[in-house]
Amino acid sequence: MITSENGVFHLKTKNYSYLFRVNEWGVLEHLHYGAPVLSEDAGALACKPGLGWGTAIQLAEGEPKSCLNALALEWSGSGRGDFRETPMELRDAATDFRFESSRIVTGVVPMQSALPQARDAAHTLEVVMAQKEAKLHLFYTAFDTVVTRRAVLENCGEEPLEFSKLMSFCIDLPGCFEMTTFHGTWNAEMRLHRQAVTGGAVVNETTMGCSSNAHQPGFLLSEPGASENCGVVYGFNLVYSANHYASAQKSHQGLTRVMQGINPANFRKTLAPGEVFETPEAVLCWSDEGFGGVSRRLHDFVNRHIVPKAWQFRSRPVLYNDWEGCLFDFNQARLLDLAKRAKKLGCELFVLDDGWFGARNHDKAGLGDYNVNKKKLPNGMSGLADKINELGMTFGLWFEPEAVNPDSDLYRAHPDWALTDQFDPLYCRNELLLDLTKPEVRDYIVQSVTGVLDGAKISYVKWDMNRPSVAVGVKAHEYILGLYDVLRRIFEPRPEILLEGCASGGNRFDLGMLCFAPQIWCSDDTDPIERLTIQENLSYLYPQSTFGAHVSAAPHSMTLRNTPLTTRGNVSFFGCLGYELDLKHLLPVEETEIKAQIAFYKQYREVFQFGSFNRLSDGEKTLWQVSGDHLHIAGLYHKLVHAAPGYERLRLTGLKKDRRYHVTTRQQSIRVGPFGALIKHVSPVNLNPNGMVLRTADRHMTMPDGQENFTASGSALHTGVMLMPLFGGTGYNADQRTQGDFGSNIYVIKEEPLHEGN
Ligand code: GLA
Repeated sequence: MITSENGVFHLKTKNYSYLFRVNEWGVLEHLHYGAPVLSEDAGALACKPGLGWGTAIQLAEGEPKSCLNALALEWSGSGRGDFRETPMELRDAATDFRFESSRIVTGVVPMQSALPQARDAAHTLEVVMAQKEAKLHLFYTAFDTVVTRRAVLENCGEEPLEFSKLMSFCIDLPGCFEMTTFHGTWNAEMRLHRQAVTGGAVVNETTMGCSSNAHQPGFLLSEPGASENCGVVYGFNLVYSANHYASAQKSHQGLTRVMQGINPANFRKTLAPGEVFETPEAVLCWSDEGFGGVSRRLHDFVNRHIVPKAWQFRSRPVLYNDWEGCLFDFNQARLLDLAKRAKKLGCELFVLDDGWFGARNHDKAGLGDYNVNKKKLPNGMSGLADKINELGMTFGLWFEPEAVNPDSDLYRAHPDWALTDQFDPLYCRNELLLDLTKPEVRDYIVQSVTGVLDGAKISYVKWDMNRPSVAVGVKAHEYILGLYDVLRRIFEPRPEILLEGCASGGNRFDLGMLCFAPQIWCSDDTDPIERLTIQENLSYLYPQSTFGAHVSAAPHSMTLRNTPLTTRGNVSFFGCLGYELDLKHLLPVEETEIKAQIAFYKQYREVFQFGSFNRLSDGEKTLWQVSGDHLHIAGLYHKLVHAAPGYERLRLTGLKKDRRYHVTTRQQSIRVGPFGALIKHVSPVNLNPNGMVLRTADRHMTMPDGQENFTASGSALHTGVMLMPLFGGTGYNADQRTQGDFGSNIYVIKEEPLHEGN
């Protein structure tokens, strides 16, 4: 609900109140974003500057309440007495927009540009601010768990209007905060950083042309002392995939100014008379239930209002992707062999990754030419797709439509379609981006991709993009508008195609892409121990239903770490499960394990993909819990083990304290091979640790590993129930967890039905 009474605007749902007012000078004063309050609380919540602060400028002399620098504001400008960072910059001019009018409309106000936006809200408030010949439209949309904001600048005058900065929102929150941001690089996405917000601005920004693995656009502000489940935390994000900028800065008066929007670096745009410029939609979320509370609210928002409607709460298939298994080395026979194996294991979707078109036999050629390589696939794409569909699996395909290799027919025909600057071309992975600001380039991409999609039975697309851009400023923005246009034209008429975003892994994991692609490939690093960090940190901002999470070979190609197959599965369960390794070389014991993993995941995938997510990790171990109405699943992961380990408890959250729960471990077994010479402790004969007998046994035999099976009350599970001991060097039996480094378990916790009398 949104109300506007006596100059007080109130966005209110059962989860929050967002309150601001127009003061007597037409300035928008921020009053409150937090727990639900009444509109009548406005006066009590407002800043009270009293006699003001020393040398401050006042809009009205002798009126400290008109001192912009000392007020909590909803928007600001430059040169008029507010010397904190400004959310907008007009060329060589001060800015002083004052309230003109407002209106409340049903639903969302659609974007006029190609920018994507959240959908299905009840109401939107538009506040119009004016300054001379320009108008600023501030939009506020109230979703159940978040508020979204954006700004639109309109040139109402006769002269061109030039600006160099326009944020999507600006807000002054009373109080002290710590800012949590997520930085990284290829293969090492989402490293968490937390720092105090003080007088100097803390900035989170990128100029790579994509939202980037270097600086994820989503961030959090928490009150000192906030924990996973308690305390005030704000979450912010942008429905945008190009250069972003956010800053937080605390003023002397104890107000923290936060803003986010398109990165102003090199940005300079001129609006012709009558023209408007709209900023991407920003998402603001509040919770007093700590980081976990704000994450769950953001997850709910993404699942309900961001991902395409056709995929809202729709189960994602278990996929097999041929990339890590084959790279560029495949033909139809090899793919069909892999598909048969994948089908036997339980996979539902077969994805053919890079290498199927043009001269794409390595990453130096072919990008841009989406004609099927008939040497590899003599029956064309439809021939392959039909065969895969006949096997009982759906079929998906990889594209990298935004890029071109100079060694390609496309580049030879249209060298001018490449995105360049005035200097020599700069290559990355032997490729250039195409200039998506050109309509003919967009048309080519739409035609070439839809030609393939409509010529074969294809139900999934992996849309990749593998290099940073050379576009700066406005050009980077116009490029991304071009991309949104292309995605809309290809996928809106084909809503049944599941689109997975990818940019060398997680180089473009953002809300803009999620408006088109319900899931995104988190990282090329599928080492499960690395994924514990990547997936856990993504979970601060995005739900598990958006994570592409695959089991791959060990030792891992990025880390050389050798992890048990059980753990690789147990980590990938918390996302959209897939397999990406050469299935031909699996041992019988591995096939059995993968079959069991897929069957288990299918049984519980609703709760894995859409259940509410809890981070319960501590310094020693990672613990994740997903919850449905009567079912909870926990994943417990160890890194390096210690000798003589102590007791370990399973401590859960969100259960009904007075109900009973049945707890079981997902059945796991352990390989014989890794025990090497230790096998003498359990074998009646003296086996050669490197001999044939043990190697054969390792292919076919496993030993049972500790499996819990007990009931406990919700209260006991909250307190922490004792788990079977970890291996302690004192022998083997099936009543302990004999796992070694990187071991893990999955626990299924089912609420027991109520019987009469309890
Ligand atoms: C990128 C992606 C990978 C794979 C390759 C193919 O690196 O992140 O998953 O698709 O491209 O070239």
